[in-house]
Amino acid sequence: MKIRVPATSANLGPGFDVLGLALNLYNEFEFTKSDESKIIEGEEISDAEDNLIYLSYAKTFEKFKGKVVPVNIKVTSNIPMSRGLGSSSACIVGGIVGAYLILDREINRQEILQIALEIEGHPDNVSPAIFGNVTATINEDGKNITTVIKPKNEYKFITLIPDFELKTEKARSVLPKNYSREDAVFNISRTALLISSLMLGQDENLKLGLEDKIHQNYRGELIPDFKEIFQFLNNNTLGCYLSGAGPTIMAIAKKDKSIREDFNKFKNSLELSWEMHELSLNTEGFEILY
Ligand code: HSE
Repeated sequence: MKIRVPATSANLGPGFDVLGLALNLYNEFEFTKSDESKIIEGEEISDAEDNLIYLSYAKTFEKFKGKVVPVNIKVTSNIPMSRGLGSSSACIVGGIVGAYLILDREINRQEILQIALEIEGHPDNVSPAIFGNVTATINEDGKNITTVIKPKNEYKFITLIPDFELKTEKARSVLPKNYSREDAVFNISRTALLISSLMLGQDENLKLGLEDKIHQNYRGELIPDFKEIFQFLNNNTLGCYLSGAGPTIMAIAKKDKSIREDFNKFKNSLELSWEMHELSLNTEGFEILY
């Protein structure tokens, strides 16, 4: 049984811990019943015990009061780790869906979201990995409500990934505990503008709609080249934001726009080495391949 789970990009600027979107970059997980649980990645075989995919798999059995069935989980990872592209969420969703398949339980995406959030905590990466598209998720007394937004226009997501990792805990530790009313209103207004503009296809509003005062500038201090890249992308695309907790920086561009040539010239002036990928929106969420 094989599942593929998309990479995700959370926050989308002002929608801290709420908004996210799914991308056409995938991790694959193949589950085979076995005598002992193992994780197989390329030539490497390791114990499953502390692995996030397996922990999520086992947690799902626990939830449904089943005895954990030992499995070999063959992993193909294309989503880079600790870069703000939802690699942990992909592992969590992969593990849970694997358990559903082994348990022969009917797939229920809302139920899967609930289990994923008991493991992960922040809904903005797991929701799009489950539902695809752009998602907005809120937690009300432990119950999660997700709306799935299908943007009117098709976009290219220009993904700039640096050659260094930034752990989410570190990127959260630099955020203030309190914010001013002005900053709160700033983010509420941009979030409303962003969502309505995506739905209505008002691309000219995206740059303003992606602005944020809750997390990006604080985290930018941890990321070399942050200001220069933001300026370059804001001048050359429809707008940009810090993907998840970073350090990846994401720009939204018209589908047929290419900035590759300009970026290749610009990147020589940067301190870090940044890889550029051109991705598109995933609209399915996780898929069961067989
Ligand atoms: N919303 C989360 C954050 C995403 O920005 O910290 C990473 O889990």
